[in-house]
Amino acid sequence: MRQTPRYLVNFDTSELPQEEFDVIIVGSGVAGLSCAYHLNKSLKVAVLTKTELSYTATRYAQGGIAAAIGEKDSIRNHYNDTIEVGRGLCDPAAVEALVAEGPDCIDELKRLGVPFDHLKGQLNLGLEAGHSFPRVVHTKDFTGSEVETHLVDAVKGLSNVSMHEAIFVVDILTDKDRSVGLLLLRDHQLSIFKAPVVVLAAGGMGQLFSVTTNPPISTGDGLAVAYRAGAVLADTEFIQFHPTALHVSGSPRFLISEAVRGEGAHIIDKNGNRFLVDVYPEAELAPRDEVVRQMFLTMRETDQDHVYLDCRHMGEDKFKTRFPVIYEKLVEHGINVAKDQIPISPAAHYMSGGVKTDLDGRTNIKGLMACGEVACTGVHGANRLASNSLLEGLVFSRRVAKTVENERRADKDKQADALKIEYRYDFKQVKADIIYERQRLQETMQRWGGVLRSDESLSTVFRFIEERKDVSSMGFDSISGFELINLLTLARIVNTACLKREESRGSHWREDFPYEDDDTWLKHILIESDEDGRMTVEIAR
Ligand code: SIN
Repeated sequence: MRQTPRYLVNFDTSELPQEEFDVIIVGSGVAGLSCAYHLNKSLKVAVLTKTELSYTATRYAQGGIAAAIGEKDSIRNHYNDTIEVGRGLCDPAAVEALVAEGPDCIDELKRLGVPFDHLKGQLNLGLEAGHSFPRVVHTKDFTGSEVETHLVDAVKGLSNVSMHEAIFVVDILTDKDRSVGLLLLRDHQLSIFKAPVVVLAAGGMGQLFSVTTNPPISTGDGLAVAYRAGAVLADTEFIQFHPTALHVSGSPRFLISEAVRGEGAHIIDKNGNRFLVDVYPEAELAPRDEVVRQMFLTMRETDQDHVYLDCRHMGEDKFKTRFPVIYEKLVEHGINVAKDQIPISPAAHYMSGGVKTDLDGRTNIKGLMACGEVACTGVHGANRLASNSLLEGLVFSRRVAKTVENERRADKDKQADALKIEYRYDFKQVKADIIYERQRLQETMQRWGGVLRSDESLSTVFRFIEERKDVSSMGFDSISGFELINLLTLARIVNTACLKREESRGSHWREDFPYEDDDTWLKHILIESDEDGRMTVEIAR
């Protein structure tokens, strides 16, 4: 018997309702919707979303979209900044595609009516960490929400696309070496959506940690289902923590955009020292991973679990006009930007790795494609440049859409038969308090596998996962149960990669290996599940 179940439930497709599509897209954030928008209009397309259409991580994106459109800027500058921040692990061809196709994506969003901010008739470009020029296109501090709203409107107008809300992807169905559809749960009922092409655009996995900017839906389901289906996952040790999340309890942790530092905000310790000035020439605008490390060290030194963002010199009216959502949120918490220092601490924000794809979104499984945060296209390397994430979603979803037609044609004949898959596994019958176990996992990951890692801390995480081996082989019938298994699966994957990489690079910081080791580690860690459900790890250039 397999070590871990291939599917999370027993089923027989011949007993389940089946619907058929040309393309199924999992996820309704920027990548999923943009892909649906660009697909050939003759295709019957389904967009699936876990809760409501607009409830996605995209909606929370404040800062904006990076694109080299400024007068003094160039595609080459954007390329260089992305490569530099990625610390030697970006795929140059992927970055080339990202930066070259960015300006066209901005033009398209303008055509769709996204009301980007302008100054003197030109797009008002913000500066963010790691960028050598102002190049972040934005709508005040609610860019993601505007992009999401306009893409939803655009896709809703397409007669070939159907939207399916409150639907959970339990697993990707595979037949031999190709993906043939999805096993779904809706209203406690299993069903099948069949299609020759499945596009994963299911976002990230911030909920693996107790402190995250990601919404509760970000449980990494896309990564976990791809892994169980045999997809290769790459660079999963590179989880980016955002430096400036408002330090108050609650999930998601409210993000205070990097754009605020771009407009001049300072980070200070409890004694009022701008500690980043002494360490980096760019001070608060050093790349995110570096800012987070210094914050962490300062917090340790000053024996505090937070530091402060200081906007008092920026002018209240200016702040309120540029950042209305952040301003209101701070007021809700009794914080006045003109008078108060804002408590901040790092929060898990973005998975730079993911399901490994080529430049057109193909994975190693035929018919399975991926784009957006769930994918590892190679553009981020060891650390993502600020505001390159919405951009990646836009650029690579378009590339996926262009490629889909060929993928379908190549395997059309094999799709003719009705889907017949029967799966039986001897699931364990143990009791688990799902909510409690999820919290314990998040706290364990945050404390021992979060910003700072070591052999010892990662071993603590492994012990925790090992003790829950039975939970991973349990037969659940609820979304929260499936999410727990997905999170446990990802914890094992992420920790394996973290332990393997014996160096510090980008957002992966090891206390016991504090330096970059280019001789050994200009390489990627690839993880997949073999036919017996065993994890295999490969280190590749
Ligand atoms: C932010 O506004 O700081 C977040 C933007 C990003 O994650 O790129």
